[in-house]
Amino acid sequence: MQQTLFGTTRDGRQVHRYTLASENLRLQVLDYGAAIQTLLVKDKDGRWRDVVLGYDTMEEYETRDGYFGACIGRVGNRIGKGVATLHGQTLVLAKNDGENHLHGGNRGFDKQLWQGQTDGDFVRFSRLSPDGEEGYPGNLEVSVTYRLTGNALQITYDALSDQDTLCSLTNHSYWNLNGEGSVLAHTLRVQAEAFLENDAHCLPTGRILPVEGTPFDFRSPKTLGRDIRENDRNLQNCGGYDHNFCLSGKAPAAVLHSAQSGITMEVETTLPGMQVYSGNFLTRRRGKGGAVYNTRDALCLETQYYPNAMACEGFLKPILRAGERYHQETNYIFWTQAEE
Ligand code: GAL
Repeated sequence: MQQTLFGTTRDGRQVHRYTLASENLRLQVLDYGAAIQTLLVKDKDGRWRDVVLGYDTMEEYETRDGYFGACIGRVGNRIGKGVATLHGQTLVLAKNDGENHLHGGNRGFDKQLWQGQTDGDFVRFSRLSPDGEEGYPGNLEVSVTYRLTGNALQITYDALSDQDTLCSLTNHSYWNLNGEGSVLAHTLRVQAEAFLENDAHCLPTGRILPVEGTPFDFRSPKTLGRDIRENDRNLQNCGGYDHNFCLSGKAPAAVLHSAQSGITMEVETTLPGMQVYSGNFLTRRRGKGGAVYNTRDALCLETQYYPNAMACEGFLKPILRAGERYHQETNYIFWTQAEE
């Protein structure tokens, strides 16, 4: 374990970077946004590849968008018109994506400085999200813990509120199992029989559609690129994949693989949904080591409660009651094949 100064925020606060290492993985996380900045995995030739997108400097984390590697909260993804009704009371949330609320608002958890704590194989980031932050009720004590064990990165989310509130935390890493270039040749498997229909602003309409016979059928592994250009209204509405998959509950929820690097990543989660986002909004973004990230250069697999759940009948509600403990886990497990 190692802790170093990473940079300084515009308002003069120090940002630290923590490094964790296991035999097969090397992880760097920032207390700004509780963000994963690098994750090194050995490829089939024994060479380290950095499988997440990110920035080199604090200035870039503060001024560029994309939520690279960050913890998202209080509620991930979109809430229509920034309004939610909780026990008959209307919550007015920040509108930061046109008419809608996205990823916790203008200053979501991704733009906050967390308190880091570490002990050997884990780093825990904690903060108090004050009552009213971005419109959410209740003082929320929240923490996200990153732990490396052998070939797994475990992310644990914990929270406790003093009032009933909403809570759906996720991690917004952009995965690229080659470290660079397009991910369209990566194969993906998702254990989901259904996905959520989105409107033209990528907001779930409330309809749950079967994946059968659609480009959203990843029940058997297929490349991300195979059907992404199909003439399909849901794909066209979002410029590619940017939809919640309704997980069947079987593990692993998803498997991503690159033949080029020989790296496979499995995703396991306690959460009911997962946003599959094919980096549709990435355009000529300068990232780590001078890399330029483009559309389809990464895939986000954001485990979550179904987005816009408060407005949609039948969706499990991300309600956290006062005094009740929020606890969710998502694990990313890496395997490398020596030969294809
Ligand atoms: C994703 C979301 C996309 C986009 C992206 C950030 O989680 O589903 O629509 O907002 O984050 O650029």
